[in-house]
Amino acid sequence: MSEESQKKIMLTGDRPTGRLHLGHYVGSLRRRVELQNEGAFDEMYVMIADTQALTDNFGVPQKVRDNVIEVALDYLSVGLDPHKVTLFVQSAVPELFELTSYFLDLVTLSRLERNPTVKTEITQKQFGESIPAGFLCYPVSQTADIVAFDATGVPVGEDQLPMIEQANEIVHKFNTLYGETLVAPKAMVPTDQYSRRLPGTDGKAKMSKSLDNAIYLSDDEKTVSKKVMSMFTDETHLNINDPGHTENNPVFIYLEALATDDHFRRFLPEYKNLGELKAHYERGGLGDVTVKRFLAAVINDVLAPIRERRKYYEARIPEVYEILREGSERASAKAHETVLRVRRAIGVNYFSDRKLIEKQSKAFKKKLEDEAKLAEYLARQKK
Ligand code: TRP
Repeated sequence: MSEESQKKIMLTGDRPTGRLHLGHYVGSLRRRVELQNEGAFDEMYVMIADTQALTDNFGVPQKVRDNVIEVALDYLSVGLDPHKVTLFVQSAVPELFELTSYFLDLVTLSRLERNPTVKTEITQKQFGESIPAGFLCYPVSQTADIVAFDATGVPVGEDQLPMIEQANEIVHKFNTLYGETLVAPKAMVPTDQYSRRLPGTDGKAKMSKSLDNAIYLSDDEKTVSKKVMSMFTDETHLNINDPGHTENNPVFIYLEALATDDHFRRFLPEYKNLGELKAHYERGGLGDVTVKRFLAAVINDVLAPIRERRKYYEARIPEVYEILREGSERASAKAHETVLRVRRAIGVNYFSDRKLIEKQSKAFKKKLEDEAKLAEYLARQKK
């Protein structure tokens, strides 16, 4: 395949429907920053998926509009560096709409209806029989998001795996029909089980804004402490001396995802590491308040530099929009190369295809000549 496809390229994104939370952080954001700092990819793209957010928020566009800046601030706060990563807005890259149109032909309605993530969301959002076509088709537009940048790696949460699978099906179908054109992407999910899906503070399976069980990256210290102190923990651990359960206990899951030995040294030196703390809790004799206080300190320690950077950018909002505008321009230029390749593969590149014009020009000339010859012959016959 072309040289372009040998490059290591990362693309991922988030819907701007709210501020980003700790689940986003452990599930994807911190990995993006690591990848950026390791220089693991030749090119990195991070997209604010406003068009996708509109597929189920078309009635409340103001919500999407207001959260674009929140997500941008969250990106910059966690340490994504606009000099190393192209941060852009989906709607500002028109090439994505064109690619979506071509890809829509390569997928069936029944396949879209089978997408497990979409299926769950349809139930959650209670669309009933009135599913917006744009919503049902968003996996196709997500394929365009990924494929437009020749992305080889897509860091996402576990819930996005069906999207990447569907993207691969579309890529395969396109390449089979029109020749090798598109790069097949690979999902990158966190390797440790605790980071893959952070439960909510209420113990529900997923941290989410709509469930009101999230700790936001932009929460201040007091808010974090309050949320942590009222967290759901082990229901069977009623007395301090009862043996406790650490498995499926959100407090311990958060610690698994966030606490380092250094945190123990600084905030809870009675224990060397999480293994020791867990052992004591399971044995009995360790109270939830001690563990929660430690967790609040850990989270606040992780969030401290993030809050700091957020303040810096909150004081420079026009600069943040400029970062997004520049990024969108760069993203659009990159996606345009893919669009040209795709148009050529399908054969809708009429005006730039000199061979096509020459060939048809010759064919029609020949036809005109043949017709003229025939007319001449017939005229001669008549005489
Ligand atoms: N669907 C993703 C989410 O809900 C957002 C998204 C849109 C995305 N396009 C993408 C993620 C492309 C990865 C790649 O969070």
